[in-house]
Amino acid sequence: MLLSNPLAGRWTASLCLLSVLSTLLTPAVSVKEHDFKKCDQSGFCKRNRAFADHALSNSWESPYNILPESRTFKDGQFQAVILKTINDSGETVRLPITVSFQESGTARVTVDEEKRQKNEIELRHDSKARKERYNEAEQWVIVGGLALDREAKVAFEDKTQTTIKYGPSSNFEAVIKLSPFFIDFKRDGHSQIKFNDRGLLNVEHWRAKIEKPEPEKKEGEATDEAKPEETPEEKEEEVKGEDESTWWDEAFGGNTDSKPRGPESIALDISFPGYEHIYGIPSHAGPLSLKETRGGEGRYTDPYRLYNADVFEYILDSPMTLYGSIPFMQAHRKGSSVGVFWLNAAETWIDVSKAKESKNPLTLGIGAKTSTHTHWISESGLLDVFVFLGPTPQDLTKKYGELTGYTAMPQEFALGYHQCRWNYVSDEDVKDVDRKMDKFKMPYDVIWLDIEYTEEKKYFTWDAHSFPDPIGMGKQLDSHGRKLVTIIDPHIKNVDGYHVSAELKSKEFAIKNKEGSIFEGWCWPGSSHWIDSFSPAARDWWATLFKFDAFKGSMKNTWIWNDMNEPSVFNGPETTAPKDNLHFGGWEHRDVHNLYGMTFHNATHHALKTREKGELQRPFVLTRAFFAGSQRVGAMWTGDNQAAWDHLHASIPMILSQGISGFPFSGADVGGFFGNPEKDLQTRWYQAGAFYPFFRGHAHIDARRREPYLAGEPYSSIIAAALRLRYSLLPSWYTAFHQAYVDGTPIVKPMFYTHPTEEAGFDIDDQFFVGNTGLLAKPVTEQDKVSADVWIPDDEVYYDYFTYDTAPTAKGKRVIVDAPLSKIPLLMQGGHIFARRDIPRRSSALMKWDDYTLIVTIGRDGKHAEGDLYVDDGESYDFEKGQYIHRKFVLDGAAKSISSSDAEGRDPSSIKEGGWLKKMHEVSVGKIIVVGASSTWANKAVTVESEGKSWPATLEYTPAAHGRAAFATIKNLKARIGADWKVVVA
Ligand code: NOJ
Repeated sequence: MLLSNPLAGRWTASLCLLSVLSTLLTPAVSVKEHDFKKCDQSGFCKRNRAFADHALSNSWESPYNILPESRTFKDGQFQAVILKTINDSGETVRLPITVSFQESGTARVTVDEEKRQKNEIELRHDSKARKERYNEAEQWVIVGGLALDREAKVAFEDKTQTTIKYGPSSNFEAVIKLSPFFIDFKRDGHSQIKFNDRGLLNVEHWRAKIEKPEPEKKEGEATDEAKPEETPEEKEEEVKGEDESTWWDEAFGGNTDSKPRGPESIALDISFPGYEHIYGIPSHAGPLSLKETRGGEGRYTDPYRLYNADVFEYILDSPMTLYGSIPFMQAHRKGSSVGVFWLNAAETWIDVSKAKESKNPLTLGIGAKTSTHTHWISESGLLDVFVFLGPTPQDLTKKYGELTGYTAMPQEFALGYHQCRWNYVSDEDVKDVDRKMDKFKMPYDVIWLDIEYTEEKKYFTWDAHSFPDPIGMGKQLDSHGRKLVTIIDPHIKNVDGYHVSAELKSKEFAIKNKEGSIFEGWCWPGSSHWIDSFSPAARDWWATLFKFDAFKGSMKNTWIWNDMNEPSVFNGPETTAPKDNLHFGGWEHRDVHNLYGMTFHNATHHALKTREKGELQRPFVLTRAFFAGSQRVGAMWTGDNQAAWDHLHASIPMILSQGISGFPFSGADVGGFFGNPEKDLQTRWYQAGAFYPFFRGHAHIDARRREPYLAGEPYSSIIAAALRLRYSLLPSWYTAFHQAYVDGTPIVKPMFYTHPTEEAGFDIDDQFFVGNTGLLAKPVTEQDKVSADVWIPDDEVYYDYFTYDTAPTAKGKRVIVDAPLSKIPLLMQGGHIFARRDIPRRSSALMKWDDYTLIVTIGRDGKHAEGDLYVDDGESYDFEKGQYIHRKFVLDGAAKSISSSDAEGRDPSSIKEGGWLKKMHEVSVGKIIVVGASSTWANKAVTVESEGKSWPATLEYTPAAHGRAAFATIKNLKARIGADWKVVVA
């Protein structure tokens, strides 16, 4: 009736539109903590926690035992079958276990389920999903380091255990106990890591659903919604972690997961005896040294969660999941680091607890060591864990990188400053910002376009009205060596007449729903489909879309931003895809959720590598979602933070955590994404951002314009100085990236990493060293602070970077560094040599052929300082063919000489000079500043010796005064950067 009224009809239409819009806009305004599961709202997490509580509070015997006669050991691999006893009548389930010992000294423990390996299970709801436990994570994540250690050998075996010696000089040991199953990993005879020490191993084996009759409802009683009261048996099951209520389906936030395989979680306790600190498992907005999670004063009540999600306005100091996951954890105590890598891409929770452990009850805890216990819980997949026995933090990052790959060597421009906002509204707007940055002498390399550049959120198109001339825009940027980054997300608008959508559907390259039809959900464009980047054919198709003649308006200086790739699905459970969706190969989304973002990021990286025949440039792709291995294909940022001081503060431990977890190319939105930063906050954020490996200003669409030149004085000038500082130090940043590329060393390093025996530094996460420069930064992250107290980790001398004042230091003390708004607290540790380029220019490309300045910081002993510089063309892969310069600089303090030699000891005649290396002939070290030079440097002559010749340079000596160290400035060196040379002061 009402609908026949034309007015009412219009209302209905508007209401529909409104509700559609509100679905669309919901995440922008209101996704909060309660939109995401807590452990007790996640069936498998709750069950495993209950299982743990039951096990730890009772005389509990783990029901997992290795069948003695099943044991074999061959070529570095131990294999056996674990029997899980599943009921009082002794019925068992067979779980094959493999422990592999690798040449690198890393061990790997993999547990599978035999019935599922053999496909001997039945799925419910006619599901088309695979029957095995997901066993392809390795194909995505692991790129090396799997060679088996043929030297590993059984050192002892009897009815109760097998002990295997392995690792460097056979000083590692795995003691595998059979009954109950338990592994003790030892180094030099001492326990470092224990598996199933507390008996929390739990492999929820496949079982058929036994249909129970629905309880009869009496008239007028319980509605569908109300839960019938628990029976005593159900209560007991719940206590033991066998609560069946979420085995077969599970609802959250109006979505129901159909769980065709029933319960299938895996869990294991991993203990680190004698280790008080653990780090890693990013991304979480909390301290670097992870907190306990089982409640109590100052502790979390929920486990750390890894389930990539679009968490708008995330809360701080929380174990809540964020956008990306790296299940790599490091435990640290004085002088020892060990770690585990839990290779599982399903939703994962990690409980952490610590306990004082003393063998002698009379000591009442005095002198007792603290041990850390962790409990890892994943919803599905294999139990697959790598074990690293250190002993140094460097060993861990190196070995982990051997497995998952090291950071890709980025183009140099990517280390410059990136100017972004949601959104630059037109190509004219972009060109205007570009001009203004120049006008205000603010160097920058990249300007970014968020989703509004497209025609109605159809990626690979341009809004013709606002961006009529993308090529003109790209050319203006290119004239100063600048780049454009455009956003391309994985959701493809579901609309007729859009070729990308038509092809995605017709070629069946989209993620499917549980019935096997194309999955449809909501994201920025409204109704959308998602590319299934697990499919090789889909990835090949994706690559075709980036060809210059396909993505018209893109150019060689166009690079890509992959956002929303958790994937973010506005109307999906927890703003992501339903777990029973299906991917290429028949794997459920449940199994691969945390990997999806990486597969998409990887597809884009691959596309950019092939967008033109003979493409020579290294791709730049920023991602929001990530997993272990993502470091091989680009950079990440920490997502939607807020323009608030505490978010600025939180960004530092988050970035440090990324660094030690193998994915150091990371940054946070400078200025804060949501809201409008006060000028002082914005200024301090730029100063901090200048020390993020990835340095980008970004803002929400509703935020006021805040390009740094708009800040006004004195803020704009202070920000310009921070930008210039970043640019002058680019050679050192690039060298640090190269180190990360070579061996996984973090680019910014926390105290425990550089000083692993200084216990007071183990929980310091607001200051860090940059690469090997000895630069110690402590950005100000509190309002109105005009000084910083920097913790000094050693007996070295520390100089203020800007004034050369010598810090009145003593190891383990805090020194107060002046830090008015205009100043970044930045110290230089004695004993280093690092490179800068001092001529301010508009972009990194324009600095390519500038001369270098070396800063030498004389150490406490006055004798020795050293450092290195890595440089290549900053763009291509020619460095892989030897087209690079890698110098080592050494100060001999006694002889007062500084020398440069090939850092890798290469014979110069072995290096074939290409065009870039030839051009570098023109580039020299023009100046050396020796900070802390004693008065013996005064009034001395300087000779440069190089390539069979020698020539004089000049030296100016400035004596010490009022706390400022003396320094010598050597000028007119003209020592070629690529050549061996020696500067002698006599
Ligand atoms: C969410 C991202 O986190 C944010 O950086 C971006 O601006 C919006 N999506 C719009 O694309």
